[in-house]
Amino acid sequence: MRILFVASEALPFSKTGGLADVVEALPKALVARGHEVAVILPRYRGTKTTAIVMPSLTIPLGNRLRFPAVADGTLLNGVRYFFVDDPQYFDREGLYGGPQGDYWDNAERYSEFCKAAIEIAKHVWPADIIHCHDWQTALVPVFLRTSYSDDPVMKDMPVVFTIHNMGYQGQFAKDVLDRAGIPQATFTPTGIEFYGNVNFLKAGIVYSDYVTTVSKRYAQEIQTAEYGYGLDGVARGRGDRLVGILNGVDYAAWNPAKDQYLAAKFSAKDLTGKLACKQDLFKVFGLPDVPGRPLLGIVSRFADQKGFDLIAEVAHEIMREDLSLVVLGTGERRYEDLFRALASAYPDRAAAKIAYDNAIAHKVEAGADMFLMPSRYEPCGLNQIYSLKYGTVPIVRATGGLDDTIEPFDLEHGTGTGFKFWDYSGGALLYTIRQALHHFADERIWKRIQLNGMTKDYSWKTPAAEYVALYDAARAARGLTQPARNQMPVATSK
Ligand code: ADP
Ligand code: GLC
Repeated sequence: MRILFVASEALPFSKTGGLADVVEALPKALVARGHEVAVILPRYRGTKTTAIVMPSLTIPLGNRLRFPAVADGTLLNGVRYFFVDDPQYFDREGLYGGPQGDYWDNAERYSEFCKAAIEIAKHVWPADIIHCHDWQTALVPVFLRTSYSDDPVMKDMPVVFTIHNMGYQGQFAKDVLDRAGIPQATFTPTGIEFYGNVNFLKAGIVYSDYVTTVSKRYAQEIQTAEYGYGLDGVARGRGDRLVGILNGVDYAAWNPAKDQYLAAKFSAKDLTGKLACKQDLFKVFGLPDVPGRPLLGIVSRFADQKGFDLIAEVAHEIMREDLSLVVLGTGERRYEDLFRALASAYPDRAAAKIAYDNAIAHKVEAGADMFLMPSRYEPCGLNQIYSLKYGTVPIVRATGGLDDTIEPFDLEHGTGTGFKFWDYSGGALLYTIRQALHHFADERIWKRIQLNGMTKDYSWKTPAAEYVALYDAARAARGLTQPARNQMPVATSK
């Protein structure tokens, strides 16, 4: 099958969160299964490209025309990459915004991106299925079913749309319809309209052939008022076409036996290197290493979603325990302040790096004893799955993918991979941390928990197969039972 990914970020080119990990790894896993995959991304600042595929597309946005180029077209790990190159829109400091907040013209930026992606599918890389991700790409199915309704091939191009986070919807005032070149006819309660505004994510859910989200639990949760961010009714309306597929992990990048960022490598067979990683981590964070004292780690975007208000609620009770804490993250000011304050209140046991740093993220995964993720909601969550492989025992709230991936430790049967709590309260978090500390004190039990997690397989193999089955279903739903179309050569000129 020829599978075309459209996404607003992907490693190794751009990243603000787990979406970028997924859009790097899933295409590789699909290629490994014998499919052809291309990924379309915006060309953000710093993205190096090697060729021009098309010097200019003509993209109508309201009463204006824009002329982005299509760059690159080269293969990386068997995956073909195309970049929509419009410097005025994408050659900026951030991806979605800067220090002042979201860019004011995001609707136009990503509308142009979606239109360009369709043109690439039409003229450069004919696909059997388009797989879109999050609100930034949600207009692809909207345009296919409206602006392209006279195009015999594109009008029935099947689209699978993956929601990575219901909390980010791309909502704009009605006047963006015109500026972003979105057909007025879509502005209805069953279309893109949402309480008088334009809502990109809603449109993606409504117009796609299948909608997926990144864990089975979250697929149920988004159909409830508590987790649906106002779109639970819309999600329920697509209930028969809404599927949860758990993210996998790219073990080429996240594996303690091969990880280049670590002071020492280790594996389930031989855990000794983990101690050197812990000592290294203390050094990186400038904390004294007290042998035997448990070390909790956090790596995260600092957003409300991540449950740090629970930590704020019981921070001093947590720090009253005999433990150390290292935190790596950036984001909302109040959480940065929280962790800075903890570091200055407990200078020999708590440290925070307010930064985005991939090398240190790996070091935390490897060197910590426990990984803390008390999320309010978590569509999938990758760090807890990385933690399992590194023998770093996750302490999580039972929501979304955290609930699907972490099994609570059961002393009687010796089963389970971590510790989890249900109630969204500081008390429940504290209780669960204490539970973990209690078991940490028994080396034999702790090793059991570590090995239970380290031997789990959360590779992309199974989810990739689930996506392929869904791509087939989406094609069948559009009456497309023909085998994949012949390859068309990619035109590149230096
Ligand atoms: P989300 O996408 O909601 O942020 P995920 O757990 O799915 O949550 O993915 C987060 C990804 O971003 C992981 O790969 C994690 O290691 C990485 N990450 C988050 N914050 C940082 C940071 N401050 N420095 C380095 N990597 C980070
Ligand atoms: C989102 C979610 C996170 C998920 C990631 C990749 O950023 O917040 O839970 O793991 O997307 O799907």
